[in-house]
Amino acid sequence: MDTIILADWLSARLDRTAAEPTYRQMLELMQQAILTGQLAPGTKLPSSRTLAIDLGIARNTVLHVYDQLTAEGYVNSTTGSGTYVADTAPRDGVAKKAKTEESKAPCTISRRGERLIAQAGVSPKQWGAFMPGVPDVAEFPARTWSRLQARLWKRASPDLLTYAPGGGYRPLRRALSDYLRVARSVKCQPDQIIITTGIHQSIDLAVRLLTDFGDRAWVEEPCYWGVRSVLQSSGLTLVPIPVDEEGLNPTPRDMVEAPRIALVTPSHQYPLGMVMSLARRRALLEFARQHKVWIIEDDYDSEFRYGSRPLSSLQGLDDAGQVIYVGSLGKMLYPGLRMGYMVVPEALVETFRLGVAELYREGQLMQQAVLTEFILDGHLTSHVRRMRGLYGERRELLINAIRARFGDTLAVRGDEAGLHFVLELPHFADDRAVTADALAAGVVTRPLIHYFMNHDKALRGLMLGYACVPNADIAPNFDKLADVIERALTPMHTPMPTPLAQA
Ligand SMILES: Cc1ncc(COP(=O)(O)O)c(C=O)c1O
Repeated sequence: MDTIILADWLSARLDRTAAEPTYRQMLELMQQAILTGQLAPGTKLPSSRTLAIDLGIARNTVLHVYDQLTAEGYVNSTTGSGTYVADTAPRDGVAKKAKTEESKAPCTISRRGERLIAQAGVSPKQWGAFMPGVPDVAEFPARTWSRLQARLWKRASPDLLTYAPGGGYRPLRRALSDYLRVARSVKCQPDQIIITTGIHQSIDLAVRLLTDFGDRAWVEEPCYWGVRSVLQSSGLTLVPIPVDEEGLNPTPRDMVEAPRIALVTPSHQYPLGMVMSLARRRALLEFARQHKVWIIEDDYDSEFRYGSRPLSSLQGLDDAGQVIYVGSLGKMLYPGLRMGYMVVPEALVETFRLGVAELYREGQLMQQAVLTEFILDGHLTSHVRRMRGLYGERRELLINAIRARFGDTLAVRGDEAGLHFVLELPHFADDRAVTADALAAGVVTRPLIHYFMNHDKALRGLMLGYACVPNADIAPNFDKLADVIERALTPMHTPMPTPLAQA
């Protein structure tokens, strides 16, 4: 590239009417000229006085620019002998090597990154009828929370404002272990609790600490896509294991090659909603013990059961120390809180305490302290109890709306617990198309097929969340959705069969 006459080159480019100061413009122009070689290494720059006169600007401005260029290594200046363009080109060896390895292909993202992005399922809308898995955040006792928070901030001790010691705020770990022992029959001491930013992070941490790239991971078929993403992006090979009415149901063939890790939702299978039977729990634990498999028990929403009491946790039955129990406060309080916990076997406490600190450099102790007070003052229990009543009503209103419109022709699955259920559609229905049309009509839902790895054998249906929909909005919104469903179920231009026609 030709070497330029600096004053002329700058003069042609400086915009004296621009809002950007001359100093900034000049600095950027000179940096660009040096990087592109228009000002070649070794070129002597004019003195600040000469350049200032040639450009008709204050000498101080030029001195300022030269100082900054020197500080950033673009030029070298030696008192008395002047300012020279520095040699910033990559060293010979590096440049040559790079040239030979250069290909036409652009710099790419990783294969696991590609897989992650390709199957991403996060919804642009996180609220409203019938967003699955979201609690009614408008009902969150914000005043109580802010009172506790204000009290803690008044005497904010440095301890609460630093990084969290591995594992999280000790009093919170104690409060959670008391809660889990009683409510979920989890066998744990406070040390075994590790506070995380939610189930996603808990699983990410467990996978990084317990598995190696390429290991096999059993996941339920169908399962929560978010967890699948975490496992896949860690380079695990996912093996989908079908579920039936009793939960995870591996075939003898599945069991020939044991996985390194198995991820299950025994309290409330996600998304179909069944509870894993005691026999299956014992079989899974025995298989895991014999083949040294880690089990992750995802207990994401078992606080919300509307009929029977939930079975005790799988972790409570584990004598081999191979179950990692993970839970979240997102559904009990609000998802944006991003707080969850894991209960790790005693032998892994130190590994996980160090792991969580090294990987994520945990903080949020103030938030954890607020939550501790919230729990100890009894607000968590009373909020969950109140929400259980409210969500129970909403669930019933939605089921009534379904029955009013479709009678018994469409089955509802997994409605005994949680914040959502599945409305099954006939196999010929395209649940993805229904979801897209529903969104256009202003109603959010998720297609069941989305949760299956093997689409050929996928059930068709819609995930309907009712928890975040005010009672009065349930029937009108379901009517909008029902119109979309009816269109999808009606053979082209033929009259609708009963009982759909009665709608
Ligand atoms: C089965 C299951 N596990 C985990 C999560 C996510 O939990 P968290 O928000 O704590 O990461 C969800 C969210 O809906 C879920 O359905």
